[in-house]
Amino acid sequence: MSLFLRRIAKAAPIAFSNAFRGESKSNFNCFRVPVGAIAAITGGISYYYYFSSTNLVHLEAINEENSPKVALNPDKWIEFKLHETANVSHNTKLFRFTFDPSAKLGLDIASCVITRAPIGQDDEGKPKYVIRPYTPISDPDAKGYFDLLIKLYPEGIMSQYFAKLKRGDVVEVKGPIEKLRYTPNMKKHIGMIAGGSGITPMLQLIEAVLKNPDDSSQVSLLYANVSPDDILLKQKIDTLAASHPNFKVFYTVDNPSNNWRGGEGFVSKDMVLKGLPRPGDDTLILVCGPPGMMKHVSGDKAKDRSQGELSGILKDLGYTEEMVYKF
Ligand SMILES: Cc1cc2nc3c(=O)[nH]c(=O)nc-3n(C[C@H](O)[C@H](O)[C@H](O)COP(=O)(O)OP(=O)(O)OC[C@H]3O[C@@H](n4cnc5c(N)ncnc54)[C@H](O)[C@@H]3O)c2cc1C
Ligand SMILES: *[C@@H]1O[C@H](CO)[C@@H](O)[C@H](O)[C@H]1NC(C)=O
Repeated sequence: MSLFLRRIAKAAPIAFSNAFRGESKSNFNCFRVPVGAIAAITGGISYYYYFSSTNLVHLEAINEENSPKVALNPDKWIEFKLHETANVSHNTKLFRFTFDPSAKLGLDIASCVITRAPIGQDDEGKPKYVIRPYTPISDPDAKGYFDLLIKLYPEGIMSQYFAKLKRGDVVEVKGPIEKLRYTPNMKKHIGMIAGGSGITPMLQLIEAVLKNPDDSSQVSLLYANVSPDDILLKQKIDTLAASHPNFKVFYTVDNPSNNWRGGEGFVSKDMVLKGLPRPGDDTLILVCGPPGMMKHVSGDKAKDRSQGELSGILKDLGYTEEMVYKF
């Protein structure tokens, strides 16, 4: 595992525990250490950030709520510089972009950004662009950087553009584009079904819930992948689950290894019954994954990208369209 990834895995308990707020609703008190001590002993992204910044004050500013400075502009393409990358699986990579270290990205939960890359010129000689949405998975309160987790398709236009980027290259980004307005405690139970890189919007939301000590929502994630090696950021997800009683995860894979202990095959009715909250007014089920999974679980989104009809196993199990959101 690369140093960058280890830092991300290690950063999970610091960034997402309630320790920075000096209180904890969790039964696990191992992270209740004074802020200064945390920075000193655990390292992680904030440690990294400490050294990458010329202004040491930023480390203490993690919870500062009154900073109006944001890096994104919903009406303007802005260039962000690639700072660091790390392999997360054989076909998925993490990209860290940096910006003004006194600014936040400017992202509400749950939102994505759009990126564009030049792909030649049109007949009149104007640049042509490919545009694709991606979901930042770094803490929206983090200053000076954001992270994208991107699956690299061998023939994918944008993802191959990302794959070829070098440290110091810039990418044009615009946003945020809000997908689902999340407010703390808006539902008692949040169930999530994710496939592959469909984990990104879930991570954004999971972290928002878990870092807020006043948010008592229960979050249950069902995460489907081809094989155990394809599970993205498993160590980070497991760390979050181990340190937060209101978050649990169940993995399922199509091709289990010999010592695999999770589920086998597609997301099933049985997995939903055992792992996710029952249908009800206080339940929200979020779904994000490849078209095949969407079809099987909830029905895909409509062609115009509206939610479309609910079908699949969620409908069969009694969930209604009001209870389900497709990213
Ligand atoms: C709101 C939102 C958020 C997203 N967030 C993320 C994220 O955080 N991380 C992430 O990795 N992705 C995310 N995506 C997906 C991302 O936007 C791109 O769709 C993805 O990266 C592929 O783009 P591409 O240009 O690389 O590939 P494309 O060139 O669009 O092709 C994608 C793949 O499909 C194949 N393909 C293309 N056209 C066809 C066709 N007609 N028939 C069969 N196969 C075809 C290509 O060979 C390639 O393998 C998100 C999408 C949405 C809508
Ligand atoms: C990252 O993955 C790519 C593609 O699988 C591989 O060529 C490269 O060597 C890997 N880099 C590291 C540092 O492991």
